[in-house]
Amino acid sequence: MKTQDMDRNWITTAETLSSALPYMQRYSGATVVIKLGGHAMGSDEAMASFARDVVLMQQVGANPVIVHGGGPMINAMLKRLDIQSEFVGGKRVTDAATMEVVEMVLSGLVNKRIVQAIGDQGGRAIGLSGKDAQLVTCKQTNPDLGFVGTPDKVDASILRNLFDSNVIPVIAPLGAGENGETFNINGDTAAGAIAGALKADRLLLLTDVAGVKNADGEVLTEMSASQIRELTADGTIAGGMIPKTETALDAIDAGVRAVVILDGRAPNACLLELFTDHGAGSLIRK
Ligand SMILES: Nc1ncnc2c1ncn2[C@@H]1O[C@H](COP(=O)(O)OP(=O)(O)OP(=O)(O)O)[C@@H](O)[C@H]1O
Ligand SMILES: [Mg+2]
Repeated sequence: MKTQDMDRNWITTAETLSSALPYMQRYSGATVVIKLGGHAMGSDEAMASFARDVVLMQQVGANPVIVHGGGPMINAMLKRLDIQSEFVGGKRVTDAATMEVVEMVLSGLVNKRIVQAIGDQGGRAIGLSGKDAQLVTCKQTNPDLGFVGTPDKVDASILRNLFDSNVIPVIAPLGAGENGETFNINGDTAAGAIAGALKADRLLLLTDVAGVKNADGEVLTEMSASQIRELTADGTIAGGMIPKTETALDAIDAGVRAVVILDGRAPNACLLELFTDHGAGSLIRK
């Protein structure tokens, strides 16, 4: 690159950085819960870029909390281990053997990959699941689906202790039942319950689509509760998008200020959403 180009590049970068100041000030001390979907987790470079954004967020004074999914990684491991699953109404039944794999993959492979990526960027992260320190206790969602849980109580005090120590919590969506069972929780649902308990300023649901789409396939930049209900009733919001929009409404009711559903594969997705007025994805607020 010629010097002149480099100068111009630097000026643009400096201008961008400078225009981010009011946003940085707004998010200083703010709690931002980020759900990283299994489908949004890409290459090592994409993971490094995500981790760098999270470390930067903390550096400018925010308290980031990561909650992750891992559906594709669980499916791959079940296949490798040749564990067959039963399906009821299109949903996998989480029997005891499947639950072992779910816990291994989420709390082990996926969780530690994120923890390590944050460490590689100079941040300090601690990996835990909802089972640690009574973070999330669960009730069984539906006996037909086996060990799938719905959050019952969330004790977020451990997370505040971690914020005070400048540690970024990375949470696998598992919870303990009353009788010592381990339950798998949908990642979006877990992130929403945790964001609600923290009364988070922002809940970012990172996925593999640009946002919530209408029947014409256009991304809705802002959505009301009634619009969500309508699009769910007519089947436009389907599959993996249902727990996200449901979570968004529950989180807002629980005192979260705003929820954004956005494409986690887009470079610097979190930073663009938080620190510029581009605003990415679909925003849901009170
Ligand atoms: N109206 C809609 N707008 C956008 N996406 C939709 C809509 N209805 C259904 N979807 C689907 O929801 C998917 C996102 O949910 P999905 O559960 O697959 O991913 P994730 O939650 O990010 O990952 P994981 O479940 O592994 O954590 C999209 O890829 C899309 O196929
Ligand atoms: Mg999902």
